[in-house]
Amino acid sequence: MTRLVVVGGGRMGEALVAGLLAAGWADPSELVLVEKVEARRRQLGRRFAGVDVRTEPVASEGAVIVVKPDDVEAACAAVAGAGTGRVLSIAAGVRLHKLEAWLGAGVPVVRAMPNTPALVGEGAAAAAAGSAASEADLGWAEGILGAVGSVVRVPEDQLDAVTGLSGSGPAYVFLVAEALIEAGVSSGLPREVSTSLVTQTLLGSSRLLAESGQGPEALRASVTSPGGTTAAGLGVLESRAVRTAFLEAVLAATERSRQLADP
Ligand SMILES: NC(=O)c1ccc[n+]([C@@H]2O[C@H](COP(=O)([O-])OP(=O)(O)OC[C@H]3O[C@@H](n4cnc5c(N)ncnc54)[C@H](OP(=O)(O)O)[C@@H]3O)[C@@H](O)[C@H]2O)c1
Repeated sequence: MTRLVVVGGGRMGEALVAGLLAAGWADPSELVLVEKVEARRRQLGRRFAGVDVRTEPVASEGAVIVVKPDDVEAACAAVAGAGTGRVLSIAAGVRLHKLEAWLGAGVPVVRAMPNTPALVGEGAAAAAAGSAASEADLGWAEGILGAVGSVVRVPEDQLDAVTGLSGSGPAYVFLVAEALIEAGVSSGLPREVSTSLVTQTLLGSSRLLAESGQGPEALRASVTSPGGTTAAGLGVLESRAVRTAFLEAVLAATERSRQLADP
């Protein structure tokens, strides 16, 4: 019996398989990767030696649905047809009740929202259990998502907010990066110097946040002297209501996630 079938060999499917192998979650022979595009199957076959890359799912202990939301129903039908013990779906906006209906009664389902840094093993995911999912099923799903980053548990009705915050979050951070790089160039720095400084500043600041044990307010205060350069810059951001802009951005993305889930 195949241990895990991954349906969808796109960016997230590739990131997940790479993360599961790198984390030693499975041997290549225990995984099956299902991808409908032939050229893509060849690429994946070259990258993942020993992984069975094919067009249709096989019977498995568990399956992960990693196709676009519009393709989920067909992928669920194929997985249900082949037979599986439990399912994890990471498709944005596809609710548990639909997944359970498409997979058939008794198939435990967990729905999760990861994000793109999963591509480098630094994803941030949240998972919600379906009506037939046990503690063991949720633990299984967390083991898979944990291979490509961190994972928290939430009730399903919070997954829209997760989508608006961490699902879309990388795009907000990339926008900040773009703006800071341009600001560096406008201040007279060569673009490659500005890009290098900004990239490392975001990486370093994130690690400080993750590793120092201090919160963002304390870390910001620790680099802000009264009347100093940082205070001058922060003053402009506050006067432009940057906090309100982020708040409204996350609320808008959350609302859009709800709309997409319930057209
Ligand atoms: N990328 C992200 O950052 C991210 C973050 C969080 C959640 N997600 C979720 O993850 C899912 C996948 O996203 P992605 O960016 O990896 O998409 P993607 O790059 O489009 O990958 C999906 C792949 O699956 C193929 N496919 C479609 N139906 C199939 C089927 N029934 N059997 C086998 N293969 C099939 C697609 O082929 P075609 O191209 O021919 O359709 C495509 O190659 C989405 O539901 C998305 O909401 C993505």
